[in-house]
Amino acid sequence: MKIAWGITGAGHLLQDSVEILEMLSMDHKITVFLSRAGEEVLKMYGLFERITSVTGGYYQELVTEAEQKSSYPIAGRFSLGKYDLLVVSPTTSNTIGKIVNGIADTLITNIIAQAGKGRVKTYVIPVDLELGNIETVLPSKLELEICQNCETCEAAAACPSTAISPGVEINLLQCQGCGVCQMACSFDAIKGGKKIKIHMRDVDIRNTRKLYEFEDLEVLRHPLEIKNLI
Ligand SMILES: Cc1cc2nc3c(=O)[nH]c(=O)nc-3n(C[C@H](O)[C@H](O)[C@H](O)COP(=O)(O)O)c2cc1C
Repeated sequence: MKIAWGITGAGHLLQDSVEILEMLSMDHKITVFLSRAGEEVLKMYGLFERITSVTGGYYQELVTEAEQKSSYPIAGRFSLGKYDLLVVSPTTSNTIGKIVNGIADTLITNIIAQAGKGRVKTYVIPVDLELGNIETVLPSKLELEICQNCETCEAAAACPSTAISPGVEINLLQCQGCGVCQMACSFDAIKGGKKIKIHMRDVDIRNTRKLYEFEDLEVLRHPLEIKNLI
């Protein structure tokens, strides 16, 4: 099968999405489409290299929004029915809000709109599904109450991306999620994978519900479900 997989800038369900994508890439040709935020967030969680290693070749490209122009000509592949399936996982509340209002001004919202026009079957896995709280995982975080403000910060010295301002914060836009800082700090002041609770806003849940009305588009609860559908 020729599959297109879109990734937006959500940390939630990101690791699970990458794992399923890797598994499918063994038997199918997968083109990966990254929103600008999707690319940034993949790097923060140390998952970007895993995407580059499963892409490469015709219909197995890594297409980044950062490299595209405003008309997204590559989205034409969908209106021409060149893909058998489009999966977008994880899908941010921002992207869902745009889709349900018919807005197509980003790489991911464009491929969804063109997939609709080309009648390409689409699975969307939204992060915001139901009212209430969800538990999600943070990228690397400097815990200031543990940080000892060492004269020479071992974590900052070890960081290959110079992303750490000692005693202040990690610049996530520079962080590549390699985790070297966590091992370097003798005081264990940098945590990776810390879990926090996030409240789902009414507006986001209302938008997700509107998605169920779309033709040729199915809303899934978790990327694992795709395994049973292909
Ligand atoms: C570390 C990190 C994690 C994020 N996780 C989420 C998330 O789980 N869900 C969400 O809706 N937005 C999340 N965001 C915010 C989106 O990246 C942001 O709204 C972005 O503009 C979405 O753009 P996109 O929909 O084009 O990908 C996260 C941002 C950061 C920095």
